[in-house]
Amino acid sequence: MERTVKLAWAAFFLALTTAGCGTQAAPAAGDAPAFDEDGRLRFPADYREWVYVSSGLDMTYEGEEGGANQDRPPMFTNVFVNPAGYRAFMETGAWPNGTTFVLEVRESASEGSINKDGRFQTGLAAIEAEVKDQARFPKGWGFFAFGRDTEPAEAIATTQDCYSCHSEHAALDHTFIQFYPTLLDAARKKGVLADAP
Ligand code: HEC
Repeated sequence: MERTVKLAWAAFFLALTTAGCGTQAAPAAGDAPAFDEDGRLRFPADYREWVYVSSGLDMTYEGEEGGANQDRPPMFTNVFVNPAGYRAFMETGAWPNGTTFVLEVRESASEGSINKDGRFQTGLAAIEAEVKDQARFPKGWGFFAFGRDTEPAEAIATTQDCYSCHSEHAALDHTFIQFYPTLLDAARKKGVLADAP
């Protein structure tokens, strides 16, 4: 009798341990965008483990006032996309709902350590994000500015120029893939660019 009880306990603990291992081994469902109860986007803390698509260096845009950024050192913009969105894009040439982009703006410096010419990236200046969710956002995508903060961010009002510039000038579905060489190649191969720049 006592033996049976011991065996039952052993089986119980084995089941618990196996269940625990199973949970850990399962692929992270973690790259879908998360929103809090007020509909604010939670900061995607692991975006640095997402797919890196490209970096802009001190880009200014047509129609923007001011022209070249003379008053401060040049800034880099590093662009990341969540792995689920990236994989779907590579297969279909379209961004599924849940696609999340992060734009990481970094300051730059020169003549540090052994560096003479050229520039390397330094401190974080700001983080912006963009999420596709056609049920949640009237324009299909929501835009967010975290700044240097990691608090949840409210969707920026659709009257702001994030929406108009991205919808009018981005090569594919609000995303500036004309500046992301590997995504541009993939889109061309899929034949999804109506008027390739
Ligand atoms: C005048 C045009 C313009 C405006 C306004 C603008 N963007 Fe962008 N955005 C761009 C360009 C160009 C890129 C590509 C940057 C690069 O190559 O590094 C970009 C890239 C991005 C990306 C990376 C994914 C993508 O769509 O390519 C995010 C996220 C983003 N912007 C967020 C914002 C947010 C948030 C705002 C408003 C606060 C905003 N943008 C306003 C032109 C604009």
